[in-house]
Amino acid sequence: MRTQVAIIGAGPAGLLLGGLLEKEGIDTVILERRSQDYVLGRIRAGVLEQGSVGLLDKAGVGARMHAEGLVHDGVEFCFDGDKHRFDFRKLIGRTVMVYGQTEVTRDLMHARELSGAKTIYEADNVSLHGFDGDHPTVRYVKDGIEQEIVCDYIAGCDGYHGVSRASVPADALQTFERIYPFGWLGILVDRPPVSDELIYAHHARGFALCSMRSPTRSRYYVQVPANEAVEAWPDDRFWDELRRRVDPETAGNLSTGPSIEKSIAPLRSFVAEPLRFGRLFLAGDAAHIVPPTGAKGLNLALNDVGCLADALGEFYGEKSEAGVNHYSERVLKRVWKAERFSWWMTSILHTFPDTDPFGRRMQRAEFDYLVGSEIGARSLAENYTGLPL
Ligand code: APR
Ligand code: PHB
Repeated sequence: MRTQVAIIGAGPAGLLLGGLLEKEGIDTVILERRSQDYVLGRIRAGVLEQGSVGLLDKAGVGARMHAEGLVHDGVEFCFDGDKHRFDFRKLIGRTVMVYGQTEVTRDLMHARELSGAKTIYEADNVSLHGFDGDHPTVRYVKDGIEQEIVCDYIAGCDGYHGVSRASVPADALQTFERIYPFGWLGILVDRPPVSDELIYAHHARGFALCSMRSPTRSRYYVQVPANEAVEAWPDDRFWDELRRRVDPETAGNLSTGPSIEKSIAPLRSFVAEPLRFGRLFLAGDAAHIVPPTGAKGLNLALNDVGCLADALGEFYGEKSEAGVNHYSERVLKRVWKAERFSWWMTSILHTFPDTDPFGRRMQRAEFDYLVGSEIGARSLAENYTGLPL
């Protein structure tokens, strides 16, 4: 088989890249290790920056998002029970869109099916070859038969545990990492959200987040120690803990019910450099991880492939390698700023095992500064709604 760009991974990064390239008439094949249902069963983030909304529109998959997504003008922070709303629209004239990653993925898959572009699900033993030369190939096993794709470029969009980054010689790659001593226990519930906007709560007992997927479906999180077992958290314990961490009004208004999904996600910051090795690119979670506190993971992934699609468009259209050559540097600049923001949000909102009374006062002072300073609040708003592409 021959294609122009072989894409590894059918998460939002791989699928959006496929969609954007198809629009430019560039041929792609996506190889995905899992089944389509498995990919759609993963519950993940839910906040889109305006730039991400623009990219989904550009790929022609924005209709359902605009019809069903919820435009949010701001978020609330709650610090030891004191609540403050940050109005992004008023502060900087920007908003975010609440629309689940699962729905983004579904829309991209649907568009790809209609376009006839090839996606191979349940592709086993994917391996990357020859990307340091002009004729890279990707091999995989489908239904027990080994296959090979010859291509011009390989896009590694296969997430943190994927094969793409692992195929790069160790001495060509530098990695930066921070692992946090806690995770987020999240539940999904078919009950209306407690508030019109997201509530990020700091409490001595730990962080909590009230989020949503739709007017009838809510998503809640509480910080738990790393290595905690989900089984230790029956629904009643979860609701009790959440109530203790938010302000009394929110606690009183919570509409609780049986969880339809419950899982624990570890928190990690990670960046690989560079993001291009000859004819292989890394994008999305394959290239970097952020803790979910700033809602940046999905947005970074979409932005990466937006840049990559432009670069490849230039290569095929104008026969210029300038975009391809600049991809890594260009993307990493923005990635590091989002890493900084996510790390900062994480450090002010969580309770760390080694936070002493001085550290607690520093966290409180950060909150009081944001509440009292329009300049501080504008900086939060600018970062949360997404720095320019
Ligand atoms: N071969 C083929 N596919 C693979 C392989 C492999 N060896 N390893 C992983 N994959 C697939 C995974 O099954 C997954 O469907 O690559 C896909 C990667 O998708 P995501 O993990 O969703 O990563 P990405 O598309 O970069 O999206 C980032 O996901 O984790 C969230 O917060 C993150 O919202 C962000 C988004
Ligand atoms: C979510 O709704 O899953 C969500 C929202 C905001 C975050 C993280 C997760 O910062």
